[in-house]
Amino acid sequence: MSDSEVRDLARSQRRAAADVLARGMRDNPINVAAFGPNPERREQALTRFFRAAVYGVAGRGTVAGALREGRVVGVCGMAPPGRCHPTPGEKARILPTVLLGTPPGTTGRVVGWSNEWARRDPAEPHWHLGPVAVDAGLQGQGIGSLMLADFCARVDDRREAAYLETDKRENVKFYERFGFTVLEEAEVLGVPNWFMHRPRAE
Ligand SMILES: CC(C)(COP(=O)(O)OP(=O)(O)OC[C@H]1O[C@@H](n2cnc3c(N)ncnc32)[C@H](O)[C@@H]1OP(=O)(O)O)[C@@H](O)C(=O)NCCC(=O)NCCS
Repeated sequence: MSDSEVRDLARSQRRAAADVLARGMRDNPINVAAFGPNPERREQALTRFFRAAVYGVAGRGTVAGALREGRVVGVCGMAPPGRCHPTPGEKARILPTVLLGTPPGTTGRVVGWSNEWARRDPAEPHWHLGPVAVDAGLQGQGIGSLMLADFCARVDDRREAAYLETDKRENVKFYERFGFTVLEEAEVLGVPNWFMHRPRAE
């Protein structure tokens, strides 16, 4: 059982949220493929990336977080129907974070990856879930489940569908517990990715 609570994060908590996402997702296969094999460098690059990305998601949707004794231990970003894609302004803020201080080719890989995900986005109106992560060292303690239950309650209240992308097989099982099913499996940057859908509540 988790002793955490889920709340919409305040502006002042966005930096902590980005740090949790960078640590929590540091070793995800797609991030290794995009940002290179060095874990410390990857975490630095992801921290810069998520500082810009969290700002963007918060502008288009909501960044919820799991808090334990006031500390951000998990992050759950979500964008409402019609607002899945980063705006040009957001892209302009994110681009320098992947251009600077990253191995050669990183920008091309991140752009290619983002296009591969964007072109699969369902036409049906949906909430787009992500980024989602629990801090490194705290995974497997129920924090992610707490955040997913909160997310599903929000979309069910609105009778709306949801959609996500993931790059780890164990996450598929995790999301299936919350009613998502796999629409497609495909390689992106040479890494298996799963595209998952959750129907709207009747
Ligand atoms: C995926 C994630 C958000 C799940 O949150 P969590 O708090 O670890 O999950 P919970 O404790 O609520 O649930 C455990 C279930 O999650 C799944 N899981 C996925 N990654 C896991 C991990 N690193 N550690 C433990 N469980 C994990 C398993 O299905 C597990 O069920 P099991 O114990 O029966 O095998 C979290 O593990 C994480 O941040 N992983 C790394 C980043 C990531 O992949 N984010 C999602 C990108 S789409």
